[in-house]
Amino acid sequence: MKTKTIILFLLALLVFNAPYSYSQLPKESESQKAQRMLWWTNARFGMFIHWGLYALPARHEWVKNYERLTNEQYRKYFENFNPDMYNPKEWAAMAKAAGMKYVVLTAKHHEGFCLFDSKYTDYKATNTPIGKDLIKEYVEAFRAEGLKVGFYYSLIDWHHPDYTVDRMHPQRQEQDSVYARLNKGRDMAKYREYMKNQVRELLTNYGEISIIWFDFSFPGKNGKGRADWDSEGLLKLARSLQPGIIVDDRLDLKDVEGGWDFTTPEQVKVAKWPEFNGKKIPWETCQTFSGSWGYYRDETSWKSNAQLIELLIESVSKGGNLLLNVGPTARGTFDYRAKDRLSGMGEWMKYNGRSVYGCTEAPEGFTAPANTLLTYNPVKKALYIHLLAYPMGSISLPGLADKVKYMQFLHDASEIRYRAAGGENPGDVIASLPVIQPPVEIPVIEVLLK
Ligand code: GLC
Repeated sequence: MKTKTIILFLLALLVFNAPYSYSQLPKESESQKAQRMLWWTNARFGMFIHWGLYALPARHEWVKNYERLTNEQYRKYFENFNPDMYNPKEWAAMAKAAGMKYVVLTAKHHEGFCLFDSKYTDYKATNTPIGKDLIKEYVEAFRAEGLKVGFYYSLIDWHHPDYTVDRMHPQRQEQDSVYARLNKGRDMAKYREYMKNQVRELLTNYGEISIIWFDFSFPGKNGKGRADWDSEGLLKLARSLQPGIIVDDRLDLKDVEGGWDFTTPEQVKVAKWPEFNGKKIPWETCQTFSGSWGYYRDETSWKSNAQLIELLIESVSKGGNLLLNVGPTARGTFDYRAKDRLSGMGEWMKYNGRSVYGCTEAPEGFTAPANTLLTYNPVKKALYIHLLAYPMGSISLPGLADKVKYMQFLHDASEIRYRAAGGENPGDVIASLPVIQPPVEIPVIEVLLK
């Protein structure tokens, strides 16, 4: 009897004190989740903004890590942070003109610096020469342009005194044995509290927040994962404060039901629509214009407008989103290259956005002709054929015989005439195109289906 009571008592302890009882995340059916994410899947195109103290050195947002800088060495960027030209209304107008429907800004990146006026740290914009909460204006400006507003919040923190040195830290060491000594006095439990306090601030003080991007986990030796962050606790907090919020998959909760909403292939073109447990899942690729997320003055490997437009179409053609990053300067402006790319995309989107918004992968049975990408709008029953390499005079469209109701160029709604291929390819249709490419970076044929 006595042992039984003790066992029961121990069991109860386990159940009620288990730090990670994953059962308590809000439950949701697949269709409820799809419904919650519908605005996001329809939007397809968003702006990422990486902005922080690293805009001053202007040589990558990981500069503190790459150059193994101490807090003291990094301090000059805090002391000189004065983005006097910061006008998020301009940012928002550029994002909107580019065709973007949502935005995610780094409220705190790995360097630990906060763009918002947090009660829990001095390491924030209000204590720099600019002296104000930069998040507040950002939220207001983008909302006013009708974009959905999100935050990126770094789990990693290279400034906080309780954040333990790990293998990703600027003060990382070659020998494993020294970590224990190095981390003496650092208390991750306090850091976990700090993160919760800040996430509470971010998701309480700025109205409706549609996305939160936690970044990132690196479990394993001298790494950090769900237990270090209390990922489940953070996520529950986020969902309780903003029930509709959409969350990325970097909390190390991939195997937990409700532990993430979308997957985040970074700087890669996926080979096909990503799957998890055999099912296609919501995804968004985040991409830079060049190689760095933060403003990088001397970076020269900028993608062209055509490459960027193709990247967007590519993503939609496999059922995904594109979150395209801008790294504003330390004056608070978008640099000339970013402006050029954004306006190039906007020019294309203005006339061709119909092949992006509300579109997805073409249904099975539709084959993309060579040098084209297909997207599909299931509501309008419209197929979009993106001509990456412009054909000469005509294009043969496989499998469309008996399916076409009407065909036109998307940019000017000019009719495209077509005929059945017949002969050896009875299922195909041959569309006649002008020999000269219309003045569109990537022309699109809109096929309205029967
Ligand atoms: C990486 C980098 C980071 C960037 C992020 C964007 O995880 O650490 O600098 O913010 O990717 O996806």
